Amino acid sequence: MKNLDCIFKPKRIAIIGASPDPKKIGHQIIKNVIEGGFAGEIIPINSGAADVLGHKGYKSLSDVPEGVDLVVIAIPAPFVMAVMEECARRRVGAVAIITSGFGEVGKIEEEKRLKKIADDNNIALLGPNIFGLAYVPNKLNASFGPKDIHPGKIAFITQSGALGIGLMGWTVMKKIGLAALVNVGNKADIDEQDLITYFNKDKNIDVILIYMEGIKDGLKFLKTKIEKPTVILKVGRSSRGAKAAASHTGSLSGSDKIYDGVFKQLGILRANTFMEAFSWSRALSLPQPKGEDTVIITNGGGIGVATTDECEACGIKILDDPAWLEAKFRSTMPDFGSTKNPIDVTGGAGVEGYRQACKIAFAEERIKSVIVLYCETAVTDPMDIARAVEEAFEASGHNKPVVVSMVGGERTRTALEYLNEHHIPASSLIDMSVSSLKILYTWAEIKARAASRAVLEKPPAEVNKILDAVKAQGRDILMEHEARQVMELCGVPTPKWGFARSADEAVKIADSKGMYPLAMKIASPDIVHKSDVGGVVLNIRDGKELREKFEGMMVRIKKACPDAHLLGVNLIQMVSGIECIVGITTDPQFGPAVMFGLGGVFVEALKDVVFRVVPFDASEAKRMIGEIKAKKILEGFRGFKADKDSIIKTLIAVQKLAPLVKEIDINPLLTNQDGSYAVDARIVLK
Ligand code: ACO
Repeated sequence: MKNLDCIFKPKRIAIIGASPDPKKIGHQIIKNVIEGGFAGEIIPINSGAADVLGHKGYKSLSDVPEGVDLVVIAIPAPFVMAVMEECARRRVGAVAIITSGFGEVGKIEEEKRLKKIADDNNIALLGPNIFGLAYVPNKLNASFGPKDIHPGKIAFITQSGALGIGLMGWTVMKKIGLAALVNVGNKADIDEQDLITYFNKDKNIDVILIYMEGIKDGLKFLKTKIEKPTVILKVGRSSRGAKAAASHTGSLSGSDKIYDGVFKQLGILRANTFMEAFSWSRALSLPQPKGEDTVIITNGGGIGVATTDECEACGIKILDDPAWLEAKFRSTMPDFGSTKNPIDVTGGAGVEGYRQACKIAFAEERIKSVIVLYCETAVTDPMDIARAVEEAFEASGHNKPVVVSMVGGERTRTALEYLNEHHIPASSLIDMSVSSLKILYTWAEIKARAASRAVLEKPPAEVNKILDAVKAQGRDILMEHEARQVMELCGVPTPKWGFARSADEAVKIADSKGMYPLAMKIASPDIVHKSDVGGVVLNIRDGKELREKFEGMMVRIKKACPDAHLLGVNLIQMVSGIECIVGITTDPQFGPAVMFGLGGVFVEALKDVVFRVVPFDASEAKRMIGEIKAKKILEGFRGFKADKDSIIKTLIAVQKLAPLVKEIDINPLLTNQDGSYAVDARIVLK
């Protein structure tokens, strides 16, 4: 990996295109570098060798007497390549190319050449097509974005330039503190994965926040190690949005559900909106909760109930011990107040009620996190409440997380700003405050995970033999009995089954395996829609019926499809249970991915499926099962309860086939209290 210190901690910066003309982007960049207070050397370079804002100018990099760590290029695209070559000759450490007009307009080859020069000369290349970068601890603002940055501990990485500039201003207004701001643009070289890896080691950064449209190198991204809370806002969820993203950045947006799976697998926190992304990022600087019990302090019943609902919906546990709460909090409120969590200090509550309640909530070991709510009243200035909360939090030594939600007018807005400035996440939206607290619990769960021990196992040699035979026959789709055999060999649980060429053989197999009741299906490479030609019979109860049905089926099929080559019949034990689906698909970005979801008629309508990229281990498979929206159905439905262990076994076993297949559909995988059964499997080879 390239050393990114030259980007963020340079000692000497040259800005190519730094013009004396204030209308030029190059001028704005050098102005920001100077006004940002950068302490190192600043070197403007322009065709006229003009000095800019008091700094000595040069005609070209070759004229600069000493070495340069970071070169910022802001000249028109046709001249960039020559300057890049010059950077290589001058052994520059890093280059940030502001210039547009490369990959995003189809000039892929030019962009590849820039990357090659960078790689051959170990230059860290940021861009092209960016507004620049900023690194607050070094007072470096090498961008043409706003001058002011609210200092903090978040590293904000953005693919989009315009949006990045807009949000840069927004973070100042919202008092969201940034340590770094990086626009990755076309990502010819440095991408999110490099930056996450670099910022993981940076003590000035607590949280990494990424705005992303698409990933360029999925396999590289899969190697990302998440060591700090990392929030991603990945747009392009809708198919139209994905198309817009692809045309905007020239990068593939991939299937959104697979992105979702990748983020979960890596331990990345995916936000849905800008507001959520920034609120979470702010909250993730709070202390980690050391347990589950949460206390809500409020001056209003309604807001308390609404917040309790939000907590329940997202799985935040509200401390429920009325006697204990009464003993602890009664002194903070009038007689008509309620200690039943929400702790309702009542509408007439003055600052003292809040101060005391907060003090107790922060001090009590049993309480692990705190939500403070306030509805603006004429009795109290919201700013006084904000100060009381902040003072109590400060006095407690920040030993547990607290979030605040206040509803009111102009005075409330000022109070919320005050709290945010003092690193207490505060919002006028209850759901945002609750989800900000929830994200701390999610991150704690991610941190507590054991390192994944996922190893991709090879399938037994017999599987390769079957697949080779299929290919030798010029087919890429396995027949039903072949698919069943492959599943079984890999360890995917299947119902009892057999393949028979005659009625005698069918009865012998079914009797010996105890398969009744069973289903019988015709096996022929020439018959795709078996039911349409009478090639499926269900619920055969004994050997006599099996013999009869076999003979009847043969007569029917020979009549309906006289030219079909009949191999025999598949016999499958009838099983019942909850219908699930397990599949494998090959994603162009991330490679093979396993899908799990609710199957049957629901699969198309609800699309209630989740993905993980291969390989993954049993704990990841368990999380997949817990992620589907219909997970409650798995707990019990029409007398069936899912056997999760055998679903996990299926999700692990099926991965063995991932390198060999293009796609697999196990539909349905029926699950009941006794086990799970791959009833039907369709396997398409690469
Ligand atoms: N060596 C030295 N100096 C040079 C060279 C060179 N090879 N080539 C040009 N210059 C000088 C010029 O003489 C000029 O200086 P001057 O004003 O003193 O004469 C200066 O560099 C700038 O060159 P211009 O030709 O005036 O270029 P201009 O500033 O108009 O445009 C730019 C350059 C801004 C890089 C433009 O090509 C571009 O790509 N703009 C888009 C940038 C962008 O939007 N990036 C994505 C950001 S994100 C977002 O979407 C907001």
